[in-house]
Amino acid sequence: MQEVKIFDTTLRDGEQSPGCSMTIDEKIKVAIQLDKLGVDIIEAGFAAASPGDFEAISKISEVVKNSTVCSLARALESDIKKAGEAIKDATHQRIHTFIATSPIHMQYKLKMSPDEVIKRAVKAVEYAKTFCDDVEFSCEDAGRSEMSFLKEIISAVIQAGAQTINIPDTVGYTMPWEFGGQIKELVDFVNGKAIISVHCHNDLGLATANSIQAVKNGARQVECTINGIGERAGNAALEEVVMIINTRRDVFGDVKTNINPKEIYKTSRLLTSITGIEPQPNKAIVGKNAFAHESGIHQDGVLKHRDTYEIIKAEDIGIEKNNSIVLGKHSGRHAFSDKLKELGYELSDEELNKAFERFKVLADKKKEIFDEDIIAIINDEMINKQKMYELVNLQLNDCANGLASAAATIKIEDRLITDAAIGEGTIDAVFKVIDRITGYSGELIRYKVDSVTQGKDALAKVNVQVIFDKTKPAIMGHGLNIDTMTASAKAYLNALNSFVVTKDLLTTTKISYRDL
Ligand code: KIV
Ligand code: ZN
Repeated sequence: MQEVKIFDTTLRDGEQSPGCSMTIDEKIKVAIQLDKLGVDIIEAGFAAASPGDFEAISKISEVVKNSTVCSLARALESDIKKAGEAIKDATHQRIHTFIATSPIHMQYKLKMSPDEVIKRAVKAVEYAKTFCDDVEFSCEDAGRSEMSFLKEIISAVIQAGAQTINIPDTVGYTMPWEFGGQIKELVDFVNGKAIISVHCHNDLGLATANSIQAVKNGARQVECTINGIGERAGNAALEEVVMIINTRRDVFGDVKTNINPKEIYKTSRLLTSITGIEPQPNKAIVGKNAFAHESGIHQDGVLKHRDTYEIIKAEDIGIEKNNSIVLGKHSGRHAFSDKLKELGYELSDEELNKAFERFKVLADKKKEIFDEDIIAIINDEMINKQKMYELVNLQLNDCANGLASAAATIKIEDRLITDAAIGEGTIDAVFKVIDRITGYSGELIRYKVDSVTQGKDALAKVNVQVIFDKTKPAIMGHGLNIDTMTASAKAYLNALNSFVVTKDLLTTTKISYRDL
């Protein structure tokens, strides 16, 4: 059986999508989980984009054990040098360099002749080879490039040492049958001298279909992202590509991936907790409704025989079968720790203690605790580690027709500071009192509340985006609590904690990989 390599670009193309930027610590968490999921290559970022991106790739290189760690680089010496330096500590390293090959990109964006583009590409691959052996070359906008030119540049970069040739449908323009034909011709052309990879965008909703058609035609690497996040309408969703190959063994019997599907759901939830962006409810594989049977006819069929309406089982992607009430206030540490193991979490003693403390507090207030609540607590603990400012107490006085007031106590290192503020509404008052205590003045640009499960006593999950310094980008923050205002305060403080730790690495003028 042949292997289809899964190249995950959640931390690069995915992170570029609006609202999906992550802190360095969050990227590390995602990378560790991607490694566990079994992805072959993690594109950890674009090292030359900003000092923060460089730092994230370097740190990911230190912690990832099995996957290859890759940095994107434009076909420029300075970019490639940064990429090479960022991945230097990775066990398995790759540099991914690219240049546009379509007539429209060469003429209007690059303002370069086809010959100049080939020369630049060859130079880039040769230089990348001085840092690591594993070099990938992408023909940006290959979907709209001429076949004869693609062949010319591909021959040249293979000669220069590229082992993987990526064919992106950068603007999501091609039809599956066109893309499949293009891939077949290129697979035949390279004749085993390099792996043909694909990278499809979803502008017309065809990213997964095009990727799958490419696999059918000989592509042996698929670039994709968790939950399908990515520029504009996103990239091909990893979970869809993998589950198509696994489910339709009759069609894809000759290929396999190294993904452990049981880790898919957990990875999707982790990313959602970090970005605050839920996949649409009807999203294939990981949407909330993907395994829900609402109509009576369907429910009846599934009860009589599961296969009547289910082609994939929720357990296949790691959703526990019994997602009813799992634990309550009388459950002890042992039961809690067993539950975590069942959900696939391995926590250190210290992490377990913290999570258990939070579980107990929640169990006192919430009658029924579901798997989803536990997953939310664990993800929140994992992404809320940096705590220079910690909420100790919050009291509110909400006047329906007038000003609201909030009093808060915040622990700043070893000191407890209490203050109060009034605001136009409760949220305004909560954020103002935090500003008074911490001395920062944040501008709230996004505020979103979700409930983790159903029920009046459900946990509230708040996501905020705040600008603390006008010369730096907005910072994302997350908070989880049974009380929405407490969750809001925690989210705001989480954003502030991230800002304080990373502010020296943040730049508003992040270089885009589209700039040249
Ligand atoms: O969409 C695209 O073409 C890309 C390349 C950099 C691979 O993301
Ligand atoms: Zn892309």
